[in-house]
Amino acid sequence: MLKSVGIVGLGIYAPEKVMTNADWEKLVDTSDEWIRTRTGIQERRYAVEGQGTSDLAVEAAKNALKDAGMVPEDVEFIILATCTPDYRAQNASSLVQAKLGAVNAAAFDLSAACSGFIYALAVGKSMIQSGMYKNILVIAAESVSRLLNMKDRNTAILFGDGAAAAVLKEVEDGYGIISSFLGTEGVTDDILRINVGGTLHPVTHEAIDNGDVYLKMNGQEVFKFAVKALPKATKSALEAGNLTVEDLDLVIPHQANMRIIESAAKRLKLPMEMFYVNLQKYGNTSAASVGLALGEAVQEGKVKKGDMLALTGFGAGLTYGSLVLKWSK
Ligand code: UT7
Repeated sequence: MLKSVGIVGLGIYAPEKVMTNADWEKLVDTSDEWIRTRTGIQERRYAVEGQGTSDLAVEAAKNALKDAGMVPEDVEFIILATCTPDYRAQNASSLVQAKLGAVNAAAFDLSAACSGFIYALAVGKSMIQSGMYKNILVIAAESVSRLLNMKDRNTAILFGDGAAAAVLKEVEDGYGIISSFLGTEGVTDDILRINVGGTLHPVTHEAIDNGDVYLKMNGQEVFKFAVKALPKATKSALEAGNLTVEDLDLVIPHQANMRIIESAAKRLKLPMEMFYVNLQKYGNTSAASVGLALGEAVQEGKVKKGDMLALTGFGAGLTYGSLVLKWSK
């Protein structure tokens, strides 16, 4: 029998700088009303000058370790889910290892965009079940604000920065991560990515002038994918655990757009009250979003021991995935 693996410590962090819809009204032709009705977002947080993704990750990690009753030296392995590393070529998880003082941990970055936290938890669980490690610090952290074209109202108003961390360990039998589903529908078109600055198209002066060095999204294409991916991933993860939607107590969806969450609720035939939503405060924080929502749901007392949760995400790639978790704390 495989070990049961679950979250024994959870921590979140959101940077202090608040960017409201009113702030966006000063920058582009938009309105608070448009943003609220089309997305549900009211404000987001941005990393302050001098803060990189690793700094957000370290703050969340400290909170998670405290919650787990551990010190940095105890950590055996770090997985950092991010698509916004501090530097290119050096993994941001190594920066986290150094800044946290997790001197005994090996570390790597996992790039699966907004599905990153779910992918990282699934990978971490298998690494513990294989006997390779006894604990894994899974972090999802993003500073998407640094990649935004502040003149692009179609993309930029959606995103924000944040971090979440979870300590994975063996838990009581029958608790923890029950099952998961990970999916990829790879696309070669530029539905959601930064076109320039990778190895195919290095940075040029022209690319900077054209704004091609910033995040660009075809919102409608992502929307169409998301409304199918959220219910499909959730159902597939439930099926893998021989469960149905009736077994769920709470769904923690990727916090991208209220309309996407409402559509998923309808397709899954679940009431909206079963979906935890905090996108009004943070916008879309990419990989950090599901963790940040889980952290706040726990802080607000919405999750108790034995509750069955579905964590579900989708994002660039296109990637998607879901994880069914029986809360063990
Ligand atoms: O983690 C995954 C990340 N991405 C997502 O989840 C994004 C998924 N997509 C979405 O959330 C939505 O597609 C958006 C919120 C991005 C856009 O909403 P929409 O209802 O699909 O709007 P649209 O793109 O069809 O645009 C409708 C109109 C357009 O004007 P016209 O052509 O009808 O005159 C846009 O130019 O709204 C305009 N528009 C805006 N107006 C005011 C687009 N962005 C804005 C804006 N403020 N910020």
